[in-house]
Amino acid sequence: MNISMRWSGRAVALILSAACAVFFVPALTNAQPDRSSAPVKSAANPANAGTSAPIRRPWMDRSLSPEQRAGLLVKAMTLDEKIHMMHGVGACAEVWTEKCPMPIKGYVGEAPAIDRLGIPHLNLADGRAGVGNKAVNVTLLPAPIAAASSWDPALLNEFGHVLGKEEWDKGANVALSPTIDVVRVPEWGRTFESYGEDPYFNGRMAAAEIKGIQAEGPIADANMYLTMNQENSRFSSDSVVDERTLQEIYLPPYAAAVAEGHVGTFMCAYVKTNGVYSCENAHLLRDLLRKELKFDGWVMSDWGATHSTVDAANHGLDQEMPIDEYFGAPLEKAVEDGKVTVATIDEHVRNILIPMFRQGLLDRQQPGNWDSNVRTDAHTAFSRKAAEESTILLKNQGALLPLRADASIAVIGEAGSTKPKGEGGGSSEVVAPYIVSPFDGIGKRGKGKITSDDGADLYKAAATARAADVAIVFARTEETEGYDRPGLNLPGNQDALISAVAAANKKTIVVLDTGGPVLMPWIDRVAGVLEAWYSGQEDGNAIAAILYGDFNPSAKLPLTFPRTATEIPTASKEQWPGVNGRSLYSEGLNVGYRWYDATHTQPLFPFGFGLSYTTFRLNRLAVEPRELKSKSGAAPEAVLVKVDVTNTGTRDGAEVVEAYVADPSKNGEPPHQLRGFAKVRLKVGETKSVTFTLDRRSFSIYDVSLHRWTCLPGTYDVLVGTSSRDLPLHDRITIR
Ligand code: BGC
Repeated sequence: MNISMRWSGRAVALILSAACAVFFVPALTNAQPDRSSAPVKSAANPANAGTSAPIRRPWMDRSLSPEQRAGLLVKAMTLDEKIHMMHGVGACAEVWTEKCPMPIKGYVGEAPAIDRLGIPHLNLADGRAGVGNKAVNVTLLPAPIAAASSWDPALLNEFGHVLGKEEWDKGANVALSPTIDVVRVPEWGRTFESYGEDPYFNGRMAAAEIKGIQAEGPIADANMYLTMNQENSRFSSDSVVDERTLQEIYLPPYAAAVAEGHVGTFMCAYVKTNGVYSCENAHLLRDLLRKELKFDGWVMSDWGATHSTVDAANHGLDQEMPIDEYFGAPLEKAVEDGKVTVATIDEHVRNILIPMFRQGLLDRQQPGNWDSNVRTDAHTAFSRKAAEESTILLKNQGALLPLRADASIAVIGEAGSTKPKGEGGGSSEVVAPYIVSPFDGIGKRGKGKITSDDGADLYKAAATARAADVAIVFARTEETEGYDRPGLNLPGNQDALISAVAAANKKTIVVLDTGGPVLMPWIDRVAGVLEAWYSGQEDGNAIAAILYGDFNPSAKLPLTFPRTATEIPTASKEQWPGVNGRSLYSEGLNVGYRWYDATHTQPLFPFGFGLSYTTFRLNRLAVEPRELKSKSGAAPEAVLVKVDVTNTGTRDGAEVVEAYVADPSKNGEPPHQLRGFAKVRLKVGETKSVTFTLDRRSFSIYDVSLHRWTCLPGTYDVLVGTSSRDLPLHDRITIR
């Protein structure tokens, strides 16, 4: 299905924006559980608007906890009002048809205000790299996969602040961000929206970004729960995955989003997990999310991902988006028929209200609206900084980079000049205020002659390259929600273009504007490679800063780049895109680098890899404690890893220290797994001692027979270095 066929919330957006004033109505009696009680006065029911006498609103007592306030408010609500909170209000009856195209402009989801009780409307807006849904006057940030390549949770936190502030100032109080699913399939069309292939890493990034978003006002929405790892057949595909893999690989980012990020909402996914749609999957929604992770916010369905009324309501879906197909009249009927209890409805509404209270949505007015200009100089500066921090130096033969300012440069490829590539496609799309092209960025910074060629004619492009000191080919992929990439090669004639340019000029550098990994059949023929990802509006400025050495690259791969299309963890059809609608997660725990290590397969560039213009030395690893006793299977609270890092080169720079743990082999874990990391900024010659913590999970596995995490005794190796394949420092910890 074409992803441009979306529902429209435009009409509703207009009605709602006029309906957010708070009205007071006569004193409430207590709980009014039946539908004959006071009708909803809301945007969806404007005829009931406006009475005057103040009512007592005990839930407005700010000294109470969000849970207490939500409980009091639920008691005061009629069933009508409760059900109104449990679905979006769409102008369109049908989702995903041509009658309901992508919103022209406006919040992509809305739940009406209930003015009688002072409950504000919910305005939901997309935005993984800036406010989406055709909003204008917003900042386009680098794609999340790029930001994650900084390996710097502090940068992700700032990313969240910028995004959250712009969402809030656009009148959105629910930001549909971030996408935190582990990248399982390198062709996944939404790889650029996510953080990468490691669960621990994604969890750190998710928590940091969510905290940033929520600090600015909106409730963050982490998506897409769970096993949303491909776009192919995404509305029906069944992810067949064993419990241990679900727990150890796919759940941890969500666990971190709850425990550390205190995220307000989750979006349940389109796909099925083990035969059951995500939005009616009791195991996912009740057992894992509520009981195990102790999530106390709400779960909304992805757009059109609700498939039932009774099962969805009873199995844990709190809110249908974007319309009321299952949670409108059919839900009322299900309650009347006794198939869904009022207690269940109350639970759902409480789940929605708790994060609303926690974020203060009932306690303050939200300034700004969809037409506000929310761009600022600080946000522009951050977009550039994030792009610089995101760009990975993958190859730099003969220290060709950084470039001399007076070198003449041939900028080859459309992405270098006429069509700079700032972002991926789908619901995350942002209307960029501008995108600086690499040609312009290099032109502003370089002192030599700068020429360009769009690369359409290989012969002409080679001639342009030959005439310059250095040729830089900008290559790109077109990645979008709704479609997986058909393969891992650069599309079109780009591989041939790179080969032709490299044959014409030994000093050829390739800059990749991709959202995920690509194959590099020409790797041995080019002198340099940079992965710049989809780098946002400041694309050309950031790349020029890296090329000329104004910024020393310090980013690292958050996922593996394979050498060939077949040497990947999900190479069989049964795994991806699946056979008969089922995708078998038969690689189990061996996702990403875990698979390369377990099968002794050489990747092109490993997880965690990235070069710098300076060099670093790591030494004096110390793990503390090195021996301990586990009490009835409990893992140690915290193990400290201490290591010295020295900048041994000639430029100031930053290094990421990565710590992996190798379990005793009887545990059945992959060879080693990322359990901690730290980014260290060092002046030339400087040494810093870095200490970070490995948590309980670093020494635990999920025991499916006991249904819990457990620590098995044995000797665990702690491996420290600068990529998943470069781990020179070792220590051990013995658990008895
Ligand atoms: C996407 C979500 C998005 C929603 C609303 C869905 O297709 O999967 O990520 O938030 O549309 O645009």
